[in-house]
Amino acid sequence: MDTLLQAAVAAHRDGDAATARAHYERVLALDPGQPDALHFLGVLRHQAGDSEAAIALIARALARAPRHADIHNNLGNIHKERGDAVAAEACYRRALTFQPGHFTAVGNLAVALEMQGRLDDAFRAYGLLLTVAPSYAHGYHLLGLFLRNHAREVEHGRQAAACLRRAWELDPDNLRALAALGNVLYMLGEHDAARQVYRDWLQRDPESPLARHMLAACGGADVPARAGDAYIRSLFDSFAGSFDEQLLQHLDYRAPQLLAGALGAALDGRRGLDILDAGCGTGLCAALLRPWARRLDGVDLSPGMLARARRRGGYDALVEGELTAHLEAHPDAFDVVASADTLVYFGDLQRVCAAAHAALRAGGWFGFSVEALDRGAAAGDGTELGPSGRYRHTRAHVRTALVAAGFGDVRIEPRDLRNENGHPVHGWVAVARRGDG
Ligand SMILES: C[S@@+](CC[C@H](N)C(=O)[O-])C[C@H]1O[C@@H](n2cnc3c(N)ncnc32)[C@H](O)[C@@H]1O
Repeated sequence: MDTLLQAAVAAHRDGDAATARAHYERVLALDPGQPDALHFLGVLRHQAGDSEAAIALIARALARAPRHADIHNNLGNIHKERGDAVAAEACYRRALTFQPGHFTAVGNLAVALEMQGRLDDAFRAYGLLLTVAPSYAHGYHLLGLFLRNHAREVEHGRQAAACLRRAWELDPDNLRALAALGNVLYMLGEHDAARQVYRDWLQRDPESPLARHMLAACGGADVPARAGDAYIRSLFDSFAGSFDEQLLQHLDYRAPQLLAGALGAALDGRRGLDILDAGCGTGLCAALLRPWARRLDGVDLSPGMLARARRRGGYDALVEGELTAHLEAHPDAFDVVASADTLVYFGDLQRVCAAAHAALRAGGWFGFSVEALDRGAAAGDGTELGPSGRYRHTRAHVRTALVAAGFGDVRIEPRDLRNENGHPVHGWVAVARRGDG
């Protein structure tokens, strides 16, 4: 049975879910209460999108091995990923009762407290994490992001920079820590230091799309017309695992809901539509768009994000590709093109608006959200690549691009899309209609 279990774990680690599941089930046929098989099968079921089954399996594992800290920790992760931070906290605390030095459980506890807005408790937990695991690179990364996201004074920004630098020193493969470091330095007004982070990075890895894009975002290189495909892929592939959690819990992300609200009002009860989710990511929009859809497709550049969307379900087809090219290749194919928080990776919106117009049928709607460059009514047509690596657009630019593409009935509303660094991110939610002609 041990060999079977090892084979199951190896298949699981290699991403061969079907073999892993079959092996776990064979172990359980021999011993229905085998805690490791129940536990790992639970994790597998959660990864496949069936968290209810996962929780039931893990409860059975804990009945047999109630003091097993890893099992409590993984059950906490499932609750955390479902957005239930209170249940997650209870699991991590149980893990720590049985194994006080379980540092991943301490880090997870800190995140669960942060998700609940208990910032002082979270800060203490991050401090504890670095005490129990002083060389844990991910711990410094987490604390660095925490300090950056909740900075109340400049000193917090400086501490965030120190943590992120340490995270990267301890784990030079952690390029997200380096990207965040450049971002924090820029926020602190240390523009030269920020640019230097990316220049040093490019010296080590001249092809790095992340470093190239971020250097441009800090004013150290020419701004591209849109973020390059390689940059998007590497950013989002590395981000895919924690995307939903980060956005939903830490940053109060609401672009999909706001976009669905605007599209719903425009569609005015229409159903049975062919819909494209352009830049579908992990599929957060699927459940919102599905009720109007006869067919719902998603397109995205990042295989990591698409794998998450596939697991979440709700789409008829998921395509790996660049969305402008996808739109251009599908004339008169859709009744709705929706794009939440994706055109923030585009500078000038003219070409993508023209592509969406051509991909829509007469009477179809294009809806998207972007970040606002300036909410002042006087702001002219403009776009800007910000230090976050995302572009911002003026309302005039959004309107001009839509009108130039041939859209009518243009509606652009100011909305707060999420919170970042303790402040709301202002944006535009735009919908526009392809005329009947
Ligand atoms: C911030 S995520 C938003 C995902 C999803 N729409 C949501 O609201 O949760 C942006 C997504 O757009 C994708 N993306 C960015 N530029 C793209 C492009 N030119 N073509 C296709 N996908 C793109 C990224 O890979 C990423 O998954």
